[in-house]
Amino acid sequence: MSTSHHTARRAQDPSGRATDATADGTSGPAAVSDAGDHAPVSDAGDHTPVRTAKGARDVVDDKPKPGPTGRPRREIPEPPRLDGHGPARVVAMCNQKGGVGKTTSTINLGAALAEYGRKVLLVDFDPQGALSVGLGIQPHELDQTVYNVIMERSVEVGDVIRKTTVDDVHLLPSNIDLSAAEVQLVAEVGREHTLLRVLRPVIDEYDYVLVDCQPSLGLLTVNALTAADGVIIPLECEFFSLRGVALLIDTIDKVRERLNPRLDITGILATMFDPRTLHSKEVMARVVEAFGDTVFDTVINRTVRFPETTVAGEPITRWAPRSAGATAYRTLAREVIRR
Ligand SMILES: Nc1ncnc2c1ncn2[C@@H]1O[C@H](COP(=O)(O)OP(=O)(O)OP(=O)(O)O)[C@@H](O)[C@H]1O
Ligand SMILES: [Mg+2]
Repeated sequence: MSTSHHTARRAQDPSGRATDATADGTSGPAAVSDAGDHAPVSDAGDHTPVRTAKGARDVVDDKPKPGPTGRPRREIPEPPRLDGHGPARVVAMCNQKGGVGKTTSTINLGAALAEYGRKVLLVDFDPQGALSVGLGIQPHELDQTVYNVIMERSVEVGDVIRKTTVDDVHLLPSNIDLSAAEVQLVAEVGREHTLLRVLRPVIDEYDYVLVDCQPSLGLLTVNALTAADGVIIPLECEFFSLRGVALLIDTIDKVRERLNPRLDITGILATMFDPRTLHSKEVMARVVEAFGDTVFDTVINRTVRFPETTVAGEPITRWAPRSAGATAYRTLAREVIRR
């Protein structure tokens, strides 16, 4: 960790000035103009000093320009093609804070992974069913959901998984029924392993299973962590975003120790970044300082395109394929495949 912190700090501060986030292809000017919902921000400016900068001056000018994380961007080549599918890597999209971009990232990372030839299962593990809605499915109209697979032994997971409008992206949907599972599971033997058990029959069919967690650290989330190989933590670039992350990491550590030794943090994903504000940059700098290389190079900008995609019931890679948001999730997919 200390090495990565050092690298991060050095890269942040070649000149004691703020880094130019718009130099990053994934968060460039297109992303800003995407954000049509914003009144002109009283811009603290790209030329305002970053207060967290430590004054190191040992970076020479011909180094690659830093991205929004303050680190130089690493080029990731096109991921290798696959000859066959599976067994899947299971990734829990997790943060007990609400509205940080878990569901949005699950849909769009899933769709981007599929563009790279990966077969993807998205698991809606939130009784709100937002992931299902985001893929154009009305959760309250469903007869069978992940709830039935979990609670009724006669229901096969393969019968509840459905195709989506995106090729090679399948969905295990959820609806409000799942809220009862949290209570009912408490009495079950092996209650923390329930999701792992129900996913087992289909693991070999997919390359990635992304589990969209609800905003809590309750039994459903513990189930997701127990089933997972990795966790992606979406983190909003807002002042209070770091609150609660220590508790989340503590929970991940406990699950690793007691239930699932495979579990690893795949990465921390900064979301809703606004390259025009000093505030976003300050939060970003703190996140990189705290978590070093665990933070993905890819940063997701704040843009109205994402709420639009929810209404459209499609991932951004289809709704606005050339948008900065779509590009960002493709870059994230490359990072995830690489990690
Ligand atoms: N990068 C973004 N820019 C702007 N709006 C976004 C972005 N990402 C997500 N949103 C919007 O923010 C809201 C919350 O996002 P999302 O539902 O993905 O968060 P969540 O962490 O899954 O929330 P919850 O904790 O309630 O499940 C949604 O309306 C979504 O469209
Ligand atoms: Mg959600």
